[in-house]
Formats: sequence, structure tokens, C-alpha cells
Amino acid sequence: MALKRHVTLLDGEKVFFRPLKPDDAALYPDFLAEVTRDDLRLRFFAAMREVSPDVIDKLIHYDPAHAMAFVAIDEPSGKLLGVVRLHDQPNGEDAEFAILMRSHLKGHGLGWLMMKHMIAYAKERGLKTVQGQVLAENSTMLTMCGELGFHIADDTERGVKHVTLPLDEVPAEAIH
Ligand SMILES: CC(C)(COP(=O)(O)OP(=O)(O)OC[C@H]1O[C@@H](n2cnc3c(N)ncnc32)[C@H](O)[C@@H]1OP(=O)(O)O)[C@@H](O)C(=O)NCCC(=O)NCCS
Repeated sequence: MALKRHVTLLDGEKVFFRPLKPDDAALYPDFLAEVTRDDLRLRFFAAMREVSPDVIDKLIHYDPAHAMAFVAIDEPSGKLLGVVRLHDQPNGEDAEFAILMRSHLKGHGLGWLMMKHMIAYAKERGLKTVQGQVLAENSTMLTMCGELGFHIADDTERGVKHVTLPLDEVPAEAIH
């Protein structure tokens, strides 16, 4: 799989995906300034006014042996539009994903394309599943996960759903 991929959103906007690199720290303040508190809560499961510098540092300096993060970049401006990440579970066969994007861009098809990019990467790496925790109220994410083939179950944590995509159930043509 090509780690860099060019895509076009539903409204014609040109975007490319590439792995996140440490230099991208400079793009984060502008990115996070356009993420609403509600969306931060859906992503981090906690009310927060802003993401602390410590958390940003951890998000950027991930261990590439056990994790991967892809950024979506607006072609004309070079702005960071979204991030999807994948962290290996200790068994080395499964990985947990998380996704966040600029709030005003929701509904343009970017989340769907970022998820497919992450799934293609996971499948090519030979992982067995990608999994995630989604707040039960996050109907956009749960609908999207259902359409992408994830199995959705109650999590042990109240108000949270556990979503699992067995990668052997994903046909190769579905991610290209
Ligand atoms: C969840 C999130 C990533 C979704 O991204 P998004 O860009 O708004 O979603 P998209 O526009 O790609 O997809 C939304 C819709 O299009 C569908 N869709 C998009 N592209 C599609 C395609 N090519 N083919 C079929 N369906 C498609 C989705 O299923 C969904 O359907 P709906 O609009 O009828 O409800 C985004 O809302 C977000 O960042 N939320 C805040 C953080 C969060 O919730 N993170 C998840 C925590 S696990």
C-alpha cells in the first residue's frame, strides 16, 4: 500500500494522506483551534477545553514500532485537516484506532476516507482486527463503523460501544 495517497472529498477538495511526522507539531495548534469541545469529548471521552501540550507531545512522538498515525493534509494550503491513528495491542495481532478532524469538515466524506486508509494499512500489515471504543451517543461514528463492516457491541464501560473489524472479512476491493 502506498503510504501517501491523494483523495478528493465530496465537495471536490483535494487532500492527501501521509504518515504523521514530528514536524507536524507545528500544524497542531491551528488544527485543534478548529475542533469543537464536543468533538474533543467524543475523541478523548472527557470534557476538555483544550488538549494539553503533554498529550500533543505523546500524540506526535508515538513509537513507530507499535503505532502508526496518518494525517490528512489540504493540498492547496498544507493545513492539517484530520488525524487517524492505530496503536498495536500487546498481542501484536490487533490494534486500536482513534480519529479526529476539523469540526467544520464533518460530513464531507473525509472521515470515511481516513478510516479506509487506516483499514487498508492494517490489512496490509497482516493485523487480525482493528478495534475502537466509541461513545454510544456518537451516532455518526457508529453508523460509519457499521457501513465499514465493524461489529458493534456494548463495552464493559457504560455508555461506550466496542467496535471490531475482522480484517479477513474486508474484501481487497473494498479498500482500494
Ligand atoms: C466521526 C468522524 C471522524 C466522522 O467523519 P466525517 O468526515 O464527518 O464523516 P463522513 O462525512 O466521511 O461520513 C459521514 C457520512 O457519510 C457516509 N459516507 C461517507 N463517504 C462515503 C462513501 N464514499 N461511501 C459510503 N458512505 C460514505 C458515512 O457513513 C456517513 O453517513 P451520513 O452522512 O449519511 O451520516 C468525525 O465526525 C469526527 O471527527 N468526530 C469527532 C471525533 C470522533 O467522534 N472521533 C471518533 C472517536 S472513536
